[in-house]
This record gives sequence, C-alpha cells and structure tokens, in this order.
Amino acid sequence: MAKKKITVVGAGNVGATTAQLLAYKKLGHVYLVDVAEGIPHGKALDLMESAPLENFDSRIVGLNSYEETAGSDIVIVTAGLARRPGMTREDLRDKNAEIMKTVAEQVAHYSPNCFMIVVTNPVDTMTYVAKKYSGLGKHRIVGMAGVLDSTRFRSFISMELGVSNEDVHATVLGLHGEDMVPMPRFSSVAGIPLTELMSAEKINELVERTKHGGAEIVQLLKTGSAFYAPASSVVNMVESIVLEKNRIVPAAAYLEGEYGLDGIFMGVPVLLNWSGVAKIIELPLTAEESAALNKSAQGVLESVSHLKV
Ligand code: LAC
Repeated sequence: MAKKKITVVGAGNVGATTAQLLAYKKLGHVYLVDVAEGIPHGKALDLMESAPLENFDSRIVGLNSYEETAGSDIVIVTAGLARRPGMTREDLRDKNAEIMKTVAEQVAHYSPNCFMIVVTNPVDTMTYVAKKYSGLGKHRIVGMAGVLDSTRFRSFISMELGVSNEDVHATVLGLHGEDMVPMPRFSSVAGIPLTELMSAEKINELVERTKHGGAEIVQLLKTGSAFYAPASSVVNMVESIVLEKNRIVPAAAYLEGEYGLDGIFMGVPVLLNWSGVAKIIELPLTAEESAALNKSAQGVLESVSHLKV
C-alpha cells in the first residue's frame, strides 16, 4: 500500500512530537510546515537521522510553504500560540483565528481532498474557522480535544485504582475548556461502570482534575502547554483513519441537529475511518448531563460570536 501523505502545520512542541510519533508508528510520509525559518527543516532532518535506529522509511520534510504538501491525505494543524500561566484558551482566540484562516486557505488550495484535524486552541472555535476558510465538508474535518481530555481522565482513573490503562475507558464530551463534560456514566474499567468502583466524591475529584488537566501542565511548565499527550491523541486519531479501525472517539465534530445543536463544532463521540467522520453517536443523556453539554455549547457559541475573521 502506498504510504499516506501527512502534513503537520506548526513545528512547535505539539507539531514536532506529532511528526515524531507518525514516523515511529510508520503511518506515512510527514511534511512539517512552519513559518519559522530553519525550525521545520532542522526538526525534520533531526527526525530523519533517527530513522536508521527507529527503523522507518518514510520521508520527513521540513517546509516554509505549502507547495510540496499538495495532495496530502491528512493535514494536522497545530500552528498558533500556546497558553502561558494565567491565560485561558480563549485568550488565544483572535491571534490564532488569523493564523488559522491563512492556514486553512493554503490547505484548501493544495490539498482540497484532505481530512483535517485541528489542534490549535481554542480548538472548538478554531475548527469552525478552519471549516469556514477551507470549505471542507463536515465529514472531512474535526477538532482534537476529546481524545486528550478522555486520556487524561483515563490516566487519573488508572492511577487512582492501580489498574492497567488498557482496561480503562473514559468519555469526555463538550468543549475543550473548563466547561468540558467528563461522563462517569460512560466510563468503565474492564466493563465495570466507574460508578460501581469509586465513590461519588472520588469521581468528582478526578472529573475536576480532568477539567483543569491542561492548566495543571501549563502551571508546571510555565513556558507553554502540554504536548506529549496532545500529540499522542492526534496520532491515535490518525491511526484510526489510516488503519481503517472504525474507532469511536470523542472529537469536535460539526453538529447539524445532533444533541439539539446546530452550526458549531463541539466534542461528541464520532466513528472515524478512511471516509473521515463517518458517524456521530448520540448518547442518551440524563437531564443533568444534557444541561452540562448545553452549557459547554453556550461557551462555544459565545466564542464563535466574538470571532473577527
Ligand atoms: C491542553 C491544551 C493543549 O489541554 O489545550 O493541554
């Protein structure tokens, strides 16, 4: 099978780590694009020099423009500013929206049939901007946040119970921000509902830690935000697409009536395969869960309403 062509826009920590994982997992040729001179080229060359040891044959190319990315199968957009301590993801909105507009136009020009995964924050809003300026259909574009928030919730559950991550499933829906909606009722350990394994207080503690998971890392790093778990989350989605796994994962999908929402991107369970977002799964929610998801949606609508692009 011919190798897939995967473009990663943004050669910062998330972009470069994503490129590394894509190469090590042999998911395709990687084109790393960034406006900074030398950075994408240097990181791409450094990764290429690890190929004999990591045993991969794909190309990793550093670029300052998009011509060579033409015909990409998958485009991952990580370009933009990252948070510093004291900032919310919303504080990045206006600057990153400008960047996203330019990137989306370029991607649409060179890779009109790609599947796009947006990572730049605030991600639900940036995915909206990317759709608007790329013209990609709703099945061909998602925002990555749900896998990250769920993997954080999973890791906290696994640490708390002292059980293998392999056995832990967790679902986090809604926007990628403090009003995200971790779903204990749709989280389980080896098939056992989480609600049977932990007290409500303990679950609540892990839910709160999950909601502030990104901020916890920003507080520790001080100079930027998380990148290992975000990059793993993106690559996990790419695997599902490239390897036709048909996995169901939470991701910011374009909603047209699902969950009573219309015209925004927000985290919901989606089925991912080579066709892209093949399906949105609608979970039966309690009144409380519904209210929390609606609050999340209000946050996204509010953010989108402030867009200047
Ligand atoms: C985080 C950033 C990437 O949650 O939004 O770590």
